[in-house]
Amino acid sequence: MKITFAKTAIDSAPKGYLRVRFTEEPRGTKRFVREDGTEWLELGVGKAKDLTNRKYTILIRSIVQAAKQQSARKIAVSFKATPTLWENVSFASEERGAQLFAESVVMANFEFRSFKTKPKEGWKDVEEILICDPATPAMRAGIKKGLIIGEAVNATRELSNTPGGSMTPKGLAKAAKAAVAGLPVTVQTLDRAALKKLGMGLLAGVGAGSSDEPTFTIMTYKGGKPTDKPIVLAGKGITFDSGGLNIKPSSSIYEMHLDMSGAASVIHAVALAAELKLKKNVIALVPAAENMLGNGATRPGDILTSLSGKTVEVTDTDAEGRLVLADAITYAKRFKPGVVVDVATLTGAAMVALGFHASGLMTRDDTLADQLLNLGEESGDYVWRLPLWDEYETVIKSDFADMQNHSIGGGRYGGATNGAIFLWQFAKELGCPWAHLDIAPRMTAARGEELAKGAAGAPVRLLIAFIESWKA
Ligand code: BES
Ligand code: MN
Ligand code: ZN
Repeated sequence: MKITFAKTAIDSAPKGYLRVRFTEEPRGTKRFVREDGTEWLELGVGKAKDLTNRKYTILIRSIVQAAKQQSARKIAVSFKATPTLWENVSFASEERGAQLFAESVVMANFEFRSFKTKPKEGWKDVEEILICDPATPAMRAGIKKGLIIGEAVNATRELSNTPGGSMTPKGLAKAAKAAVAGLPVTVQTLDRAALKKLGMGLLAGVGAGSSDEPTFTIMTYKGGKPTDKPIVLAGKGITFDSGGLNIKPSSSIYEMHLDMSGAASVIHAVALAAELKLKKNVIALVPAAENMLGNGATRPGDILTSLSGKTVEVTDTDAEGRLVLADAITYAKRFKPGVVVDVATLTGAAMVALGFHASGLMTRDDTLADQLLNLGEESGDYVWRLPLWDEYETVIKSDFADMQNHSIGGGRYGGATNGAIFLWQFAKELGCPWAHLDIAPRMTAARGEELAKGAAGAPVRLLIAFIESWKA
């Protein structure tokens, strides 16, 4: 996708461009009209006073969706042509506004079709957007940055959407390497033997049922001062979650190839930090495994020893995400991090609590919570806080090990926090702020988001905003 600026008014945009005219009609109003041989798209913005940044993002995406529907590859837009419509939309800066525009159109243009045969007439992608308004240097900078970030979000979606049979733990490690090709990021991957030797009993235990061996990948970007404590991101990389011996019912197994969406997001967040040359030290950890049934599979009741030395009774093999992440969080300690954030499609319960529009945020650090809440709102990767109090620790008590990974005997409620409180048992040893993002609610695009079906690419925009704003 190309975004260019023109000095001409939109009425004299070059031939062959679908021209967009914004009107005060209700949002959702969409009409194609032909005038003197040129095609116009009329889009209702609604009343200026009702237009928020959130709605602005959706509106911008809908331009691309409408163009695709009309097989228009080139679009011309102008905001200055209808200045009063935008009075209520205020961005942190002109650059941020332009960035949001570019991110939105790039994200709307994406579809997962690597496994589809290309039609004779080609895909209906938008190739160019011509903005018929004067460009300031800040706007140009914002567009450039937004294009890069939007592409990274789409790369995350591409990786997440790849079916389980085509994206194994080793494949995910390879994808991490490919994501940073040509960038100053080092990538190291431990195979089954190596991670077992290190003592990652939880990761090894989750991967034990699959013939595709688990991997543990470490990506390192050093854009900051050598003395700056790194930001460590850990992403759940379950390449397929069958549930293991506590096998999932068919109604909940279908999309479980997306259970490495957390991993995909941290991989591309580090890549993005390097591409944008951010002056920060960032490390991404990717514990990857396939949660399968097999002769070697971990059984309910098995007791595993984690990298931290703590033992875990596996009371449910389907609560595997917290197991692999626990070992990653313990591993993070060796970097003496300034902050650790883990990202995971951890619980269906987070979806019960939040629906499809916000990821769950759980942390003991109020400053970090506020920062992530604010950046979530700003970036479009909305998050909402859920509790993480000591009271919840009772649910993971085990009679036979240091803790259990499920809440047998503790009830079936509050699942998102129960998952987080398990992770906290390991994160409390870090000695730095830690936050857990349960992105299960944002695993796939929601209705009305003007995005293609499948992975939503959360929370790459939040992570990059967080990395940018973090003070080492
Ligand atoms: N990957 C799932 C959670 C999930 C479900 C993400 C639906 C996205 C959509 C996770 O590993 C899981 O199975 N969680 C269990 C936890 C339970 C066994 C404690 C769940 O949510 O039911
Ligand atoms: Mn599971
Ligand atoms: Zn899972």
